[in-house]
Amino acid sequence: MHQITGNTRIFGILADPIQHVKTPQGINQHFAAEAFDGVMVPIHVGEGELATVVQGLRAVRNLSGFVVTVPHKSAMVALCDQVSAAARLIGAVNVVHRSADGRLHGTMLDGEGFVAGLRQQGIEPAGLSAYLAGAGGAASAIAFALVRAGVSRLTVANRTSDKALQLIERIRSIHPAAVLNVGTEDPSGHELVINGTSLGLRPGDALPLQADKLQASQVVAEIIMQPAETPLLSAAKARGCRIHFGAPMLSSQLALMAAFMRGKLEQLEVAP
Ligand code: ATR
Repeated sequence: MHQITGNTRIFGILADPIQHVKTPQGINQHFAAEAFDGVMVPIHVGEGELATVVQGLRAVRNLSGFVVTVPHKSAMVALCDQVSAAARLIGAVNVVHRSADGRLHGTMLDGEGFVAGLRQQGIEPAGLSAYLAGAGGAASAIAFALVRAGVSRLTVANRTSDKALQLIERIRSIHPAAVLNVGTEDPSGHELVINGTSLGLRPGDALPLQADKLQASQVVAEIIMQPAETPLLSAAKARGCRIHFGAPMLSSQLALMAAFMRGKLEQLEVAP
């Protein structure tokens, strides 16, 4: 077993509730595989206590970073000294690096995790035309990461179409050359089709898009992890599409989180 000493770098995960968090297992396994002398511990922080805890963590000299999860992701934005363009656009931070001077650098890696998960399964989004259902928190992170990854165009469709339009305008303010449109429920004409809504989580949910329009040439991807095969993925499979599950989004994010917390801040594109 890994011995914790005075040289061990400390990492945290700030959450409430804390009992269910699984990230420490994944991160600690990752550190072990890399032979890195670090340990992640769960830190239980109630909703009104984030600022106090974060102020204290700034002064902890052997702390390199922490993961931020429910309910703290939005509040963490204002507590960082520097945040990435993605975190600013989405309005949430899920990982922080503490530099040696005690400054805190934050970003949001949900979208990058999704893109890394696609690549891990051999799907390169660069150059593909993409259709995304949803314009909430998760979908915004994915939309931004897809544009950064170089999709040829992105269509965003949302029940509340104003939110899709706002998302597109925010992305355009950072990537003015991106080809972005608001779409309908019909995903025809796109190579990569993604469900970024919460539809499919609960039994009896409606489909997030017109699955009867799917064609075998399309890749259909989910962000929902439980159930693994959502009604959308079942419908896509029946129509001969390649399907992509939700789980790689999280598993691929672990390595990105570990790198960021250790100070590899390539993700930190500061907003103009
Ligand atoms: P998350 O953080 O999981 O992304 P969210 O920000 O609340 O959660 O976003 C949920 C997304 O699922 C939104 O795109 C939402 O559409 P609206 O913006 O119109 O609310 C979508 N969604 C949730 N329930 C839906 C439903 N019954 N029909 C259509 N879209 C739904």
